[in-house]
Amino acid sequence: MKARLFTTTNIIIQITVGLFLITTSTSSCYYDKEEILYPQSACDTATVTYSSSVVPILVSNCTSCHAGNTPSAGIKLDTHADVKIQVANGKLWGSVSHTASYSPMPKSGSKMSDCNLTKIKKWIDAGAPNN
Ligand code: HEC
Repeated sequence: MKARLFTTTNIIIQITVGLFLITTSTSSCYYDKEEILYPQSACDTATVTYSSSVVPILVSNCTSCHAGNTPSAGIKLDTHADVKIQVANGKLWGSVSHTASYSPMPKSGSKMSDCNLTKIKKWIDAGAPNN
């Protein structure tokens, strides 16, 4: 009797410990949040400007082909005036958002991150200012 009681208690303890471990390992903790761990990697679209937001995106993803004397498709993206032309004709947003009937950009690369697209869209919607 005493041995059986001990065994039952043991099982209860094991289940309790097991449930505790499952609960603590599956619930996500505060410090799992990327934007808290790495604040600089969070997508900051609060203050979007041409020089601080759009230019770095174009330089990393586009100007290897769209600048210089022989830009791809004759499209230059290295000055505000050049970029503004592609904003006005709808091709900039059409190509980066992979809208049907536009050639998807970056060419032979994958679509840019939602963060980059949000910044570009916000800047275009603000009238594509040279700021
Ligand atoms: C590897 C070279 C390369 C890169 C990188 C590249 N492009 Fe292009 N782009 C091209 C070529 C080539 C064309 C001509 C159309 C085609 O071949 O699809 C083109 C066409 C375009 C067009 C015209 C699209 C249309 O439908 O008429 C736009 C706008 C454009 N690119 C913008 C961009 C932007 C913005 C980026 C960066 C996000 C980018 N490109 C990155 C090579 C590139």
